[in-house]
Amino acid sequence: MCPRPARARIIQPAMMLDELQARCEAVRREWAQASASARDPAGVEALRIKFLGRKGFVTTAFAALRTLPPEERAAAGRLLNALKGEIASALEALQAEAERETVEARLAAERYDLTLPGSWRPVGRLHPLTQVRREIEDIFMKLGFDVASGPELETDYYNFEALAIGADHPARDEWDSFYIADGLLLRTHTSPVQIRVMKSQPPPVRIVCPGRCYRRDNPDATHSPVFHQIELLWVEKGLTFAHLKWILREFVTEFFGPGYEMRFAADFFPFTEPSAQVHIRKPPGEWLEIMGAGMVDPAVLAEVGYDPEGVTGFAFGLGVERMAMLRWGIEDIRLFFQNDIRFLSQF
Ligand code: DAH
Repeated sequence: MCPRPARARIIQPAMMLDELQARCEAVRREWAQASASARDPAGVEALRIKFLGRKGFVTTAFAALRTLPPEERAAAGRLLNALKGEIASALEALQAEAERETVEARLAAERYDLTLPGSWRPVGRLHPLTQVRREIEDIFMKLGFDVASGPELETDYYNFEALAIGADHPARDEWDSFYIADGLLLRTHTSPVQIRVMKSQPPPVRIVCPGRCYRRDNPDATHSPVFHQIELLWVEKGLTFAHLKWILREFVTEFFGPGYEMRFAADFFPFTEPSAQVHIRKPPGEWLEIMGAGMVDPAVLAEVGYDPEGVTGFAFGLGVERMAMLRWGIEDIRLFFQNDIRFLSQF
């Protein structure tokens, strides 16, 4: 007699139909109990293996069918098929339910709360000096001026010589700068752009020249070895000091607003004659110097090849930092160059 396979042990050859029925009922009860607590996909899969798997009750019972008397096999088959069908569809429902719960649990766990504030990215903005520079350019462009620029690395000729600041001129001391090589320096002001532009075109000339300048100054609240200027130059037939005054009035009103008084104070620049400082104040405030200005010296006009008898001109140079400090009440020029975001983000 050959040994029966282990899986056939559940139903003995002698088992009768009613006994099989009782077994089926037992399996149903067991299913009812076991399936009640299966909630997650792994639990449902364990159930499937236990009841419908290769060694599960239903499969082994089917294998044992052939050991039943032939006349009982059909009825036994129907019983088993019914049981298998019930369990299979119950499993399917459980599987679906477990999957739904898993998805819901994931959704709940991964839920985005759209009411939370987003992650904040700082938006960049223009540096206050850039804002002021552009604003001043705009004011003069509306008055018909073009914007010109020149090199920051200048020759001695353009920075000094052509502006009537000879090698021995005492004004050089005030403008001592960074010399890169013999006759080459970081420009000390934007005035050399006047020369470059006039040399490149006949009059009339109507320009503003913004740019970076350098002086060998130790940094303190009002000095920085790097700073910015805006130069203005208007050369044409018939210009007088009155035109300069008118242009300045327009500028002061546009940039600082109404209510400002303006006055000239005598000054000296080698390249202008007469030369003046321009002061402004909002009464009862103090007078503040905002720029140097003057009528272009005839010697400078002659130097660039213009006819000093035929055209006259005026010019000024203002400090961009100074304008920004007055505009916003900033008391230390170094703040512009320290790049502290707490300072910069206020403008
Ligand atoms: N270049 C002068 C400076 O840096 C400022 C200046 C004065 C410019 C008079 C001018 C001017 O164009 O006419 O101090």
